[in-house]
This record gives sequence, C-alpha cells and structure tokens, in this order.
Amino acid sequence: MIRITNVTKSFGGTDVLKGVSMDIEKGDIFGIIGQSGAGKSTLLRCINGLEPYDEGTITVDDTVVNIRDKKALRNLQKRMGMIFQGFNLLERLDVYHNVALPMKFWGIPTNTPEAREKIMNLLKLVGLENKVHSKPRELSGGQKQRVAIARALVLDPDFLLCDEATSALDPEITKEILALLQKINKEMGITIIVVTHQMEVVKQICRKVAFLNKGKVLSVGQPEQMFVWPKEDEIRQFLREESDKLPTTGANLKLFFYGEGNQRPIVTDMARELGTSFNICWAKLEDFREDVYGSLVLNMEEKDLKKACDFLDSKNVTWEVLKF
Ligand SMILES: Nc1ncnc2c1ncn2[C@@H]1O[C@H](COP(=O)(O)OP(=O)(O)O)[C@@H](O)[C@H]1O
Ligand SMILES: [Mg+2]
Repeated sequence: MIRITNVTKSFGGTDVLKGVSMDIEKGDIFGIIGQSGAGKSTLLRCINGLEPYDEGTITVDDTVVNIRDKKALRNLQKRMGMIFQGFNLLERLDVYHNVALPMKFWGIPTNTPEAREKIMNLLKLVGLENKVHSKPRELSGGQKQRVAIARALVLDPDFLLCDEATSALDPEITKEILALLQKINKEMGITIIVVTHQMEVVKQICRKVAFLNKGKVLSVGQPEQMFVWPKEDEIRQFLREESDKLPTTGANLKLFFYGEGNQRPIVTDMARELGTSFNICWAKLEDFREDVYGSLVLNMEEKDLKKACDFLDSKNVTWEVLKF
C-alpha cells in the first residue's frame, strides 16, 4: 500500500503540494484527477522518488520514500513502472530493445533465452508480437504507448504509475489502452495509479479517485459519487455541471441516478401520477465501468414541487432542489 501523509512541496517559494494525504490500496486502480497545474505530476514524481518532497511522509509498504537513501530508493523504483504522455522511447532502438532497456540498466542480460521469453511474452500481452524489430517512428501513438507499457512491466513491478498516459491519444485508442491497463491490473495484480485531467479515463477504469486542486485534495472517493453529486464548486466547474443556463422561473429539481442498470421510467411515471408535465433542462447519464450513473434537472411549477419530492422519496430516488 502507498500511504501519503501531509505531503508538502514547493518550487522556489511557490507551494505546489499543500498537505496532500491519501491511501492507495494494493490491487487498486487509483485515479488522481485535476486541472492542469494542480500538482498531479509533481505528486507522482514524489511517490517514485524522482522528486524530493519537503514535509510529510510517503511510504510504500512501510518503506519511507527518501531521496537521500539512494539504495532503498533504487529498490523502490524498481518496483514502480512508469508511463508518460510522450511515451519516451529511444528512437535508435527497436521495440525489443526499448522494452529491454530497464533490464540493461539493472545489469540483467537481455539476450538470454529467459530474457527473450519474458520480453516476447510482454509484447504478446500488449499485442505487438509482430512489431518486435520495428523502430518507434514506424509505430502509431497507441502502439508506442503499448511498447512503453511493456517496458514498464519488464522488471515485474508491483505498481504502474501513469502520467497522462492517454492524453495524446484519440478516444478509440484511449479506450484500448485503458482496457489493457485493466487487464494488467486484473491478471497480474499490479496496482495502478493513473494521473489524468480526463474524466473519461477515471470513469472507465478507476475504482477510487482523488481530486487535486491547487495542491490540495478536495475529495477522495468512488468516481461515480464524485461524478453524480460533486459537492465542491471546483469539482462542479471541472465537470462542467449545470450552471447559468437553467430556467430562472418555477423550481429546478435535480434527480440523481446511482447505478441504475436498467433505468426506471421515473420521470414519465411522475408526470402521469402528478397529472402535470416537466421540462427536462439539463441531464447527464453515463456508463461507469458496468453501470449507468448520472443526474438530471427538471424544471416545474412551484406548486408541483412538494408532490414531486414526495413521489421521488417513495421511489427512493435521491433529489436536491437547486437554488437560483
Ligand atoms: N521542476 C519544476 N520547477 C518549478 N516549478 C515546477 C516544476 N515542476 C512543476 N512546477 C510547477 O508546479 C505546479 C504543478 O505542476 P504539475 O505537478 O506538473 O501539475 P499537473 O501535473 O497537475 O498539471 C505548476 O505550477 C508547475 O509550473
Ligand atoms: Mg502533469
């Protein structure tokens, strides 16, 4: 488990991390999301000791990440594979030798039968067994990221740290890479930390997410909760929640849907029962891993509001009356 407790970090007098705490459980796919400049990459670099932090502690299975203890740090870094937005492949090496690079760095021979088997298995895992001798320039962005993933796994890490790993890829390729990360998590039991500014990424694979804003954790929890009912203004803005476009007359009632696999016809039932009609003025319903989550805003006459709320209570639907 990775435990981050009250970590602070500043660059030349500017505080970039301001007392960040979170626990990342073994086996999890944990997302760290937030605007650009929030401190996400800095936090990730503190976790794997590429960057020292000022105060607080980061421990990995009870070992403190301490950049001054070079030997312990190297052993820790060996347990953490890392992938980036820009892939960071060496152009002059082919796919095989790019994947083998961390072995080389650790003085492990890369041309033994065992090494070859390991690298070929990884290339199979990422679906590039027919690109063994290609150079990075001959590969698409998605394929380059697959090479980087294989490389990150070559030393059998316990953790895979991903910094905006899909931000340079188009939506279809992003989905494929995320599915691959999910497979790696499930089949190899590798804990994955995903740093991203894309809610799509969190929605598709993360079981837990921390929202980072200006160096502080605003919220940690299940992504569907953060998505369905974002309580902090910063998160609402980030998610582009319903805003100034709502009607300013009548009453605006927001309904929340949590994992309604086969959605119930709540709105039409309610209209029929109350003998009135509503204006649906804002809505978002989306797939999260396997279920549907979301919310919608109904505008109605003030006189219908009480009856509508009672109806929703009777159906166990969570609601909120929005203030103007
Ligand atoms: N090496 C550095 N030197 C000085 N400032 C830095 C350095 N790295 C990051 N920063 C600053 O720290 C803040 C957070 O950056 P970063 O962690 O990259 O955010 P994010 O990954 O969330 O976009 C930014 O204001 C950035 O300019
Ligand atoms: Mg970043």
